[in-house]
Amino acid sequence: EFISPENMRDFSSLYKKLSESDEPLHRMDDFFGMGAAWVAYRHDDVAMILKDHRFVKNMKHLASKGQNTASPTVQSLLQRFISMPNMVTVDPPDHTRLRRLASKAFTPRMIEELRPRIQQIADELLDAVQAQGKMDIVEDYAYPLPIKVISEMLGVPAADHIRFREWTKTISNSTLDPSKLVEVESALESFMDYIRSLLEEKRKQPCNDVISSLIQAYDEGDQFTENEIISTVWLLITAGHETTVHLITNGTLALMQHPEQMKQLRNDPSLLPSAVEEMLRYAGPVLFGMRIAGEDLILHGQEVCKGEVVVVSVAAAHLEASKFENAEAFNITREENDHLAFGKGIHFCLGAPLARLEGQIAFGTLLRKFPNLRLAVEPEQLVFKQNSMRALESLPVEF
Ligand code: HEM
Repeated sequence: EFISPENMRDFSSLYKKLSESDEPLHRMDDFFGMGAAWVAYRHDDVAMILKDHRFVKNMKHLASKGQNTASPTVQSLLQRFISMPNMVTVDPPDHTRLRRLASKAFTPRMIEELRPRIQQIADELLDAVQAQGKMDIVEDYAYPLPIKVISEMLGVPAADHIRFREWTKTISNSTLDPSKLVEVESALESFMDYIRSLLEEKRKQPCNDVISSLIQAYDEGDQFTENEIISTVWLLITAGHETTVHLITNGTLALMQHPEQMKQLRNDPSLLPSAVEEMLRYAGPVLFGMRIAGEDLILHGQEVCKGEVVVVSVAAAHLEASKFENAEAFNITREENDHLAFGKGIHFCLGAPLARLEGQIAFGTLLRKFPNLRLAVEPEQLVFKQNSMRALESLPVEF
């Protein structure tokens, strides 16, 4: 239900459905093969659960308790993710140690220094399609921009982008479909092998890039395992581009569907920061988050047992009338915008400053270069992917 095509198209209907009930906590019989789960969707609850250390991330708390009824296929995939420790899949103290490993490269100051290069990439991508008068935002702009940026930061050769695009596609499109498990496992395996050999090369020839600094941290002490370094690189590559693709795509669609606001933004680029925040709220890539109850607890009078899944519906929280004025409307000048698109608490998105900068440059450049930007198909023809994100297959535009 969470990712049905209807709900992808119209999130307010899902939220309305949830809010029609007085129950702040819903019970789902099954959450993607992991057994029964709780769903929280009110803004305060979502924020509280994301911040509260009683709700943990490490899947071992789910798999080892014998309480979950996960199917063998899902269990095998869970085991695979448990065996890939990085900051987003673990809890303190490991989380603190692994986040520190990568955080130096993502400070707002480091990110601001990337501005001229990101601008250059955006210009080049749009110049390449200018003469043809049309493009697919996903293929020609939203995908290549962040992948180039994160690859250059990490020190990944440009020629390899195509390979990890395929792997990422297989992994994110199929994780929710048990029949595709073999494909997912083999894509993950190839991805890991690729990173392993990349690390070998970097060890021989270190450069001024993030991967070289991770290897240095690994070699300098016994604080990290090789597996942790590999999984961290994998996380940075995937987290560093997948979501931003959808921010750029969904944001462009929202602008085209609100021509007045597109015009306003084109005329006043100082609105870019608040426009990006509104895109993250109104059409943010991440629909929901997941935690596991680390202990037995009572939530809104319900007994939540240790090891049970708790899903937080970020997309629904973004439509809450008491938190957002005229919540169902897209408003690029919105002032109060406490959205949860980057999460909350200790796992708050490490790449948020980068994603924001990429978004602001991507929209600013698109509007400046293409004053006639418009959708090239009927809105009903747009297809949302069936994965855990609000993600369009393609977005054909003319200009
Ligand atoms: C974590 C969203 C872009 C790296 C997260 C989380 C969210 C999120 C919701 C929290 C996950 C949780 O609590 O379970 C987004 C969105 C993006 C974006 C919407 C783009 C619009 C990026 C970029 C990077 C990045 C560009 C760059 C590498 C990370 C990392 C974490 C993370 C490393 C894990 C942080 C931790 O667990 O401590 N992101 N992200 N993200 N994100 Fe992003």
